Amino acid sequence: MPLGSRSRGTSPLRTNPYPLGVTYKLDDSAHPPLDKAAHPVLHEGRVAVITGAGSGIGRAAAKVLANLGMKLALADVDQEGLEQTANEVSSIIGASNVLAFPIDVANFDEVVKFKEKVFEAWDEVAVLMNNAGVATLDGKRGTSWENRDVWTEVLNTNVVGVLNVQHTFVQSMLHQENPSVVVNTGSKQGITNPPGNPAYNASKAAVKSITESLGHELRSQPDPHVTAHLFIPGWTYTGLTGHLTAGIGDKPDGAWSAEESVLFMIDRVRAGDFYILVPDNETRREVDELRIMWGAADITEGRPALSRWHPSYKAAFDEYMKEGLAQLD
Ligand SMILES: NC(=O)c1ccc[n+]([C@@H]2O[C@H](COP(=O)([O-])OP(=O)(O)OC[C@H]3O[C@@H](n4cnc5c(N)ncnc54)[C@H](O)[C@@H]3O)[C@@H](O)[C@H]2O)c1
Repeated sequence: MPLGSRSRGTSPLRTNPYPLGVTYKLDDSAHPPLDKAAHPVLHEGRVAVITGAGSGIGRAAAKVLANLGMKLALADVDQEGLEQTANEVSSIIGASNVLAFPIDVANFDEVVKFKEKVFEAWDEVAVLMNNAGVATLDGKRGTSWENRDVWTEVLNTNVVGVLNVQHTFVQSMLHQENPSVVVNTGSKQGITNPPGNPAYNASKAAVKSITESLGHELRSQPDPHVTAHLFIPGWTYTGLTGHLTAGIGDKPDGAWSAEESVLFMIDRVRAGDFYILVPDNETRREVDELRIMWGAADITEGRPALSRWHPSYKAAFDEYMKEGLAQLD
């Protein structure tokens, strides 16, 4: 039997709930404007906590939520970036509605103090955006047996950091009467595990698992009023993807801006989605779905791990994608 012939072919794809051509821009009249009163959580006057707010997606989220009229508690280990975001959002919502905390999310004591200050000031959290993350250590990625320092840094920030924030804030959010949401930032790399950055992939696989458990435990509460959401950005033009730091000034055509990814996330949180799988200009949702299903079928079809990148399965994978996408046309 030729390698790859055990594939059952493609599974039917869900109808894409996101119509092509809908753009996600604050000032785009084609997209419904942000309605300040449309959602009980994403609502004027309520409080959003954002980690990793000093750059990229976190900064864009701060601006979008400030435009919604939310109060903001911002955290980042990069004090300069944090101050810049705080200044930008203060001009939208007013300085008295912005708190900025230069903390390392991997440091539990700092996160506890951060949470205490937020509750002291405003006594509630509506949106907990657990977003701080790193992909490398000073540009180094490491392998599965080298660069332990990279693994330590990436797992400490992306896993221990996410847990520190989740453990600290969710306990208090459970005691609130108002509904609230926890949005943990994962990655497609934590689902499909592409070769090249094993520490980052492992960290984001952990975030997926942590958030799925959180979602289940929250909805099993006697009076469930906190929901969990796994935000899975596509290729988004930020510091993390290296383009900004490499001095490539313009957004590559294939990437989405951080604002687009955030507006998409907010749209799907409002709709109640748990998995918020964000497309970009290069990868449409259907392509992501096929890749995810192929990866899951490595187990059920008895193929080697990461067969998508195995030379003996390349032809089968290419055929599977072709067939899957042909079904849509
Ligand atoms: N940009 C993408 O294409 C992409 C794709 C998938 C997932 N993500 C995820 O989105 C999230 C935001 O990333 P981004 O693309 O905006 O990158 P970014 O580098 O622009 O922003 C990340 C922010 O997190 C902060 N941070 C890092 N370590 C921290 C720590 N220990 N404590 C506090 N703050 C810390 C950084 O200083 C930075 O301001 C990350 O979790 C990332 O893994 C990004």
